[in-house]
Amino acid sequence: MSKFKKVSIELIDQPKTWLITGVSGFIGSNLLETLLKLNQRVVGLDNFATGHQHNLDEVQNLVGTEQWANFKFYEGDIRNLEDCHKACANVDYVLHQAALGSVPRSIADPITTNAANITGFLNMLVAARDAKVSSFTYAASSSTYGDHPALPKVEENIGNPLSPYAVTKYVNELYADVFARTYGFKTIGLRYFNVFGKRQDPNGAYAAVIPKWTAAMIAGDDVFINGDGETSRDFCFIENTVQANILAATTQNEEAKNQVYNVAVGDRTTLNDLFNAIKIALNENGVTYTKDPIYREFRAGDVRHSQANIKKIQKMLGYAAKYNIQEGIDLAMNWYSSKL
Ligand SMILES: NC(=O)c1ccc[n+]([C@@H]2O[C@H](COP(=O)([O-])OP(=O)(O)OC[C@H]3O[C@@H](n4cnc5c(N)ncnc54)[C@H](O)[C@@H]3O)[C@@H](O)[C@H]2O)c1
Repeated sequence: MSKFKKVSIELIDQPKTWLITGVSGFIGSNLLETLLKLNQRVVGLDNFATGHQHNLDEVQNLVGTEQWANFKFYEGDIRNLEDCHKACANVDYVLHQAALGSVPRSIADPITTNAANITGFLNMLVAARDAKVSSFTYAASSSTYGDHPALPKVEENIGNPLSPYAVTKYVNELYADVFARTYGFKTIGLRYFNVFGKRQDPNGAYAAVIPKWTAAMIAGDDVFINGDGETSRDFCFIENTVQANILAATTQNEEAKNQVYNVAVGDRTTLNDLFNAIKIALNENGVTYTKDPIYREFRAGDVRHSQANIKKIQKMLGYAAKYNIQEGIDLAMNWYSSKL
């Protein structure tokens, strides 16, 4: 039996109280769905900066009435310490996802990104420490590898950040480490690599590549590729990310704490291959797209290649990426084609 399966059975047997910040966002709402389906009690905190009520509504429709009754939502802001204290009360496990994502957003407005991602993060650390929660797991980012050239990326070798967003995610790791040293408050950081799947927002200037292209193809609009299309990423299906969070939150292994882990598949897909994979998967869902992509300038702050070494999380937390990119794309396209 996989470690994740074992942990899931234990959780059903002995439900816990979880706090998910950023619960109405893409990753947060998927964590919510899985945890409610495991009969957990969940507290959610969000200010709807980039999250949506319709994500929460969809989860409500996917879980049972009794499971939905185990969810308590606070509309609040992690930049406000009082909101964080309120949300952390009587919580066992914190999954801190709230932040402003997107490299270009942070380049356009570094101050707003800094406030949510650094002040908000620090508030959450303080509130969770004061509430004496059992574990604190947070969304770190592969952007922390910055300009380090090595592939695949290994946790201990990072370069210089290439964007304000990357700075904020690195500062999170620094604060997390200092909280372990100074207050004995140990956390786990999960460096996500390009997560994708259902409920990832296709709208707005800062949409991620997969939902953005998918929405364009479904609408019959042009698809733009930044650069020559040979830029590559380790695209990670949301269910793998959810698994990593639950394993991190519940680990009893002290050595696994005060650590950061890559969360990915360990594979690498170019944008050109991604374009074709989405096109084919949409076709299987009855969406025909006939246009060629339009190539344009490389985007500032983007790294050329990204691929994770996932040995550390496999060894320390028992993580096993259940879905490869193709399986993930098939499931995601199935969802988008039914929604858009
Ligand atoms: N999606 C990815 O590929 C990826 C990759 C690396 C890291 N991450 C990190 O994962 C986390 C979740 O990302 P996501 O893709 O689900 O993005 P998302 O934008 O869908 O979700 C973020 C959520 O945080 C909320 N939020 C933002 N600022 C807030 C504030 N001040 N107070 C309360 N809530 C606030 C938003 O309203 C939203 O619901 C973020 O920390 C992001 O930086 C995501």
